[in-house]
Amino acid sequence: MTVSRRYSDRRRFLGVGTWVVGLAAAALSLGVAAAEPDTAVGDASVHSYPDAVGEIGVVSLNGALRGRGAFFQSLGTNGRSCATCHVADQAMSISVRDIQRRFQETRGADPLFAAVDGANCPTGRQGVAADHSLLLKHGLIRIFLPVPANAQFTISVVHDPYGCAMTPGTGGQPVVSVYRRPLPTANLPFLSAIMFDGRETHMPLNVLSSFPANLDTDLTQQALDAINIHAQAARAPSAQQLSDIVNFELGVFTAQVHDANAGSLHARGASGGPEYLAAEMTALYYPGINDSLGADPEGQPFDSSAMSLFLPWADVQERRGDYVEQQRDAARRSVAAGEMVFNTAPVQISNVRGLNDNPALGSPTTFAGTCTTCHDTPNTGNHSFPLPLDIGTGHSALPSLESDPNIAAGLAELSGADVPVYLISGCPNPFSAGQPQSFYTTDPGKALLTGACSDFNRGKGPILRGLAARAPYFHNGAAASLKELVNFYDKRFQMNLTDRQKHDLVAFLNSL
Ligand code: HEC
Ligand code: HEC
Repeated sequence: MTVSRRYSDRRRFLGVGTWVVGLAAAALSLGVAAAEPDTAVGDASVHSYPDAVGEIGVVSLNGALRGRGAFFQSLGTNGRSCATCHVADQAMSISVRDIQRRFQETRGADPLFAAVDGANCPTGRQGVAADHSLLLKHGLIRIFLPVPANAQFTISVVHDPYGCAMTPGTGGQPVVSVYRRPLPTANLPFLSAIMFDGRETHMPLNVLSSFPANLDTDLTQQALDAINIHAQAARAPSAQQLSDIVNFELGVFTAQVHDANAGSLHARGASGGPEYLAAEMTALYYPGINDSLGADPEGQPFDSSAMSLFLPWADVQERRGDYVEQQRDAARRSVAAGEMVFNTAPVQISNVRGLNDNPALGSPTTFAGTCTTCHDTPNTGNHSFPLPLDIGTGHSALPSLESDPNIAAGLAELSGADVPVYLISGCPNPFSAGQPQSFYTTDPGKALLTGACSDFNRGKGPILRGLAARAPYFHNGAAASLKELVNFYDKRFQMNLTDRQKHDLVAFLNSL
């Protein structure tokens, strides 16, 4: 299969957004995919690899998915490359299954397990599974960040299972350890924030005219930091190496292509698979598209039906006589029904920092939304403007450390890791003015960058594609499966989904 050559130059394909924004609006209001790209002499093919429920597809427009490119080279001192943690057959993230295989095959000597951040603590011993338990069981990498000097809060450790939750920093400020999943290095031309906490969004990704240049700047700085930190570089990479990495990353698109039950995910009018992302979606996307808070720069009203990939499957008919085809059609209707749940099922949004404390929204105690209130970018599922949110995933599931009963009920559905817990004090309560507040967190999110109380636990919702190939989910790997994730949302946001709706929603998420 091929994709259009028109899109094989990233600078050009990022630029085409300007003249096709009208198409984007048309496609959205019709709820259908835009027309086929005009040329089809592409040179990039879809690579597909088996995963938990079928096959994951990957398209690379700017270079091979393995081999000599800078993304695959060891540019530091510990033998790691970008591909150590961002693997093509795992949707450019890394799955727990593969982490465990690599540990067994190399007895823990694979560079992935370098103690700097591939162990629970930097003192972790090579080959000792217990010292790498967070990576082995939950796919987590240690991220260590200094408490900002101007922090509005005080932070202390109340649960320190490994002994390195807070350590003295060289700059005088203590360093905090949080544990996060590698985000996919794919579908990057749709990002509005880089990293869970947005710390690599140095130049904003919120205006179309500056978007290509700023994305390039941000990803270049990110690559440099990744080489310094993860690969423990002794000397700086060359400008050519950095630009090779960024150029490669910007051309990689991934999505599920085949489902064991539903078959080809782009059959009978559906738009699953990475080609649609590489061709049509890159042409349609602009920062703020379909913004759920009403600030779409094209002036389009928010359409909660942000996902329209499987709309044509809503009424695929059972064909008489052929049992196999009937089963497949039923599976396709289930995927389409799950997409409908994602677009329309009511979500009771409360106690979400970034929404319920947002004066622009009138600081509503509770309001009814949908999955797409937060996952509003059409057919990619992140937020089209930067909007870091606290949905509760970074709160502590330890007994009595969470005061919101809905968040506690949601967390009880997850098999989260045993990570450090921090006590935060000195912040005003965002949901009831004038009240000082102390609370517990396992990951301060954006507050660890800005030092602001209002940024606590806030992080981005990632692009929701290629999910089946890269369990577990959420920044801290707390959802071992999509079933757990759906049960979390059901309780956390009082959705009262039926078993059928949950089943359909999981089928849909698995097909992304
Ligand atoms: C040891 C594992 C590891 C290695 C090696 C690694 N990364 Fe990552 N990468 C991560 C983790 C973990 C995150 C998420 C961190 C966070 O959100 O705080 C991430 C996030 C990213 C993101 C952000 C994606 C997004 O949606 O915001 C990009 C881009 C990225 N990495 C590129 C690279 C590049 C380029 C290299 C090689 C120079 C590299 N990574 C090497 C673990 C790794
Ligand atoms: C109030 C905002 C909000 C709503 C509503 C919401 N999400 Fe999310 N979603 C987020 C945020 C923020 C994250 C990142 C959380 C984290 O990593 O800890 C996320 C993460 C996810 C992920 C994990 C992605 C990954 O790569 O690990 C999936 C899947 C997901 N959401 C699906 C859904 C579904 C399905 C619904 C509706 C039932 C939904 N979301 C409703 C904000 C929201």
